[in-house]
Amino acid sequence: LLILYHLLSLISAYIAFTLIKTPCFTTCYRVSFSSTTNTALKGCSTALGFFLNNRFADALALLKPWRNQSMYHAMGYSSILLMQAGMTFDPHDIDAAMASLRESLQTCQRFQQCHKPVRTFKSYIFGAAYNIIVCKLLTEEMHAELCYAEVLLQKAFLTFLDESIIALLLDCQALANVTKDTEKQKSTHIHFRGGVNMGIGSFNLMLSLLPSRVLRLMEFLGFSGDREVGLSELREGAASNSLRSILSTLTLLMFHLYITVILGTGEGNLTEAEALLEPYKEKFPNGALILFYTARIALLKGNITFAQEKFLACIAAQEEWRQIHHLCSWELMWAYSFELNWREAYRYADILCKESKWSQAVYVFQKAAILSMLPEEEVTELGEDVVELFRQVDGLRLRIAGKSIPTEKFAAKKAQRYSSSNPVKLAVPALEMLYVWNGFTVVGKRPDLTESILTILEKAEEQLRDDPEYHVDDQCVVQLLKGLCLRQLGRLVQAESCFNHVISREKEIKHDNYLVPYTMYELGLLHKQKGDVNAAITVIENAKMNYKDYNMESRLHFRIHAALNTMGSFSAKLPPSRTPA
Ligand SMILES: *[C@@H]1O[C@H](CO)[C@@H](O)[C@H](O)[C@H]1NC(C)=O
Ligand SMILES: *[C@@H]1O[C@H](CO)[C@@H](O)[C@H](O)[C@H]1NC(C)=O
Ligand SMILES: *[C@@H]1O[C@H](CO)[C@@H](O)[C@H](O)[C@H]1NC(C)=O
Repeated sequence: LLILYHLLSLISAYIAFTLIKTPCFTTCYRVSFSSTTNTALKGCSTALGFFLNNRFADALALLKPWRNQSMYHAMGYSSILLMQAGMTFDPHDIDAAMASLRESLQTCQRFQQCHKPVRTFKSYIFGAAYNIIVCKLLTEEMHAELCYAEVLLQKAFLTFLDESIIALLLDCQALANVTKDTEKQKSTHIHFRGGVNMGIGSFNLMLSLLPSRVLRLMEFLGFSGDREVGLSELREGAASNSLRSILSTLTLLMFHLYITVILGTGEGNLTEAEALLEPYKEKFPNGALILFYTARIALLKGNITFAQEKFLACIAAQEEWRQIHHLCSWELMWAYSFELNWREAYRYADILCKESKWSQAVYVFQKAAILSMLPEEEVTELGEDVVELFRQVDGLRLRIAGKSIPTEKFAAKKAQRYSSSNPVKLAVPALEMLYVWNGFTVVGKRPDLTESILTILEKAEEQLRDDPEYHVDDQCVVQLLKGLCLRQLGRLVQAESCFNHVISREKEIKHDNYLVPYTMYELGLLHKQKGDVNAAITVIENAKMNYKDYNMESRLHFRIHAALNTMGSFSAKLPPSRTPA
């Protein structure tokens, strides 16, 4: 789901982006650029209007007839198909998107006068110089280079990271820098520059998120991600008057509103996100994407009621792409869970189980987890059977390229205990999932809700069954969650003792092997909050270095990486051996 969320926003960004800037080329790229620009821009703003006003089929229809003649139409067309494939998960849609991407690549290649179909890392510097010297820097050519790089970038979402993408982006950056002055007068160059900002920016941002284990490979290949460079390139792209700026804007929103929450410590800049969205809110008050992000910002600010209203408005805004409804249902499920309104949360979990194909295992687990929070009479009244639902989870797991999805694996492992004839109930499964999705960063902004959660946890602790197999695990789950609530409420001494309790029982934990490293990480954040950065780094490094093969390991590595980054400014004071890699 995480990947899909990311995919959705990035790709929707690409679509918006490609729709805007579309010189309606004929088959010959030598046709004067300026003579067609005006008509093209008119057509393109129509297409963008369609897209942002939820008329997706109209946007597709507008692009389709031009896709063989214009690289931008080709990209726009295949991006929409790709987005559809990402949302439906239907093999037919995926095949169609792949085929259309291949066609787009061919169309782009026709416009690349100096293109070298196979590029390597080593050749990119020479390649760029070659381009500048030998070619006459035709505007169309630069756009073709950029367009080609972007199509490859999208293709990489469906396959694997392709080295030629990066080489091409670097080519484009070199072109953009060299031609900055000479081309300054040409309005088209602004749009090219905007595209490069976007490419380089998001690439740096993506790399800066990667934990060092993964990054080592990239560094070996000669790349390192710099978050500040990434953000500032994207800001430049978003602020420029370029028609492509919406792409940079949507990527920044994605970063502040999702990536930092799920893979980071939740330090996204909501002020900036709001300011970025403002101009689009005025122009497209009923656009599904705009409503969705408005709601998400409100949610992260802790304004849950307002967020619910906006998600509902987003559902009401269009019927064409039901998958957007599913995104909203997923968010609404969490929004009601934050408020401990399990009855409403169940409603949306149930909708997801019935309608969305993304991850049935997670949806069914989530539904059962939410039902576990309701009194038994109410569950019976709803015609549901919690034990039966948990038993279904394992059979519903997906495999993508032979690999299982970490969240599904986690859910299946938690649900396993229900396969026995007299199952020991999970203590607080819905709250545990809330933690897994980093929901406590939202709840933490509302002390009233945090107090209520604490009360539930204390009650659950009293009711734990003294079972030899699961007692310690369940107790530790409750302690970890209690520690989180107490930390959010500023009761740090009590929080620390909860975390230490979990860590002290490491040897007795039988199933939930994720508990100790995750607790160490949370303890590290607590030390940081107390101002003891050295202790924070020590305990977080310990979680990073000394534990492996537990559930959702990569997710923790992402968070550790983000946390150590925020403490980076202090690391200069430490002895070199302590400096985070
Ligand atoms: C576009 O090109 C492909 C192959 O190059 C061809 O099969 C298809 O019919 C063309 N479509 C249009 C609308 O010209
Ligand atoms: C968030 O963004 C705003 C506007 O871009 C900026 O003024 C502010 O300093 C940023 N806050 C943080 C914590 O980075
Ligand atoms: C929630 O946000 C809306 C719109 O920004 C605002 O009018 C309302 O006062 C906010 N409510 C709370 C409780 O902050």
